[in-house]
Amino acid sequence: MTDDLAHELALLREFGYTHLDMRAQGEVRTAPANDGGGDDWDELEREALACTKCRLAKTRTQVVYGVGNPKADLMFIGEAPGRDEDIQGQPFVGRAGALLTDIIKAMKLTRDDVYIANVIKCRPPDNRNPEPDELVACRPFIRRQIDIIKPKVIVTLGRFALQSLLEKGFSITAVRGSWLDFNGIKVMPTYHPAYLLRNPSAKKDVWQDMKKVMTELGIS
Ligand code: URA
Repeated sequence: MTDDLAHELALLREFGYTHLDMRAQGEVRTAPANDGGGDDWDELEREALACTKCRLAKTRTQVVYGVGNPKADLMFIGEAPGRDEDIQGQPFVGRAGALLTDIIKAMKLTRDDVYIANVIKCRPPDNRNPEPDELVACRPFIRRQIDIIKPKVIVTLGRFALQSLLEKGFSITAVRGSWLDFNGIKVMPTYHPAYLLRNPSAKKDVWQDMKKVMTELGIS
């Protein structure tokens, strides 16, 4: 068995799989659902990269706009870039990012199939929590990204992403795993991968949530 395969199997076991259906499977990549891209997208990215609307502009190394398929059916939304993301200019590339990548793989997708972004585009110094005025200043970017991408499903990762996107003080433990709505788009709130690194026993809950997302998107 290759190391890659062994790793995938260990991962699936960790996410609660006990049996694998080895029959040939159909196409599992998400189908492009819209036109995405284009002038609006490029203009939005240019605006974000030049943004100085809040104090985080002074301390950031790079704006972390987002990565993946701008025509994705599935969008993951996190909180804010950490140190690794600030250096590399991409969301979820540190330890929590590696776990998110594993979750995406367990869903039979790749990072290129989905779109990954944060509600805050610049790193808060020392990874402190985002301030309310920073969340307000940055919110138009994630909203416009969603408007252009038009995903079928959004997965919010952790409390800040959920609360900032839906502008409501939800308790993550209360609503995790139940469908919410954002402008007609289904939203699945789940735990942040950084929380899973500290609380591995919660991975099972996240996997239950991701199974609902897979069913919604027709990924079998
Ligand atoms: N945590 C987040 O919420 N986003 C990142 O991009 C990295 C870590």
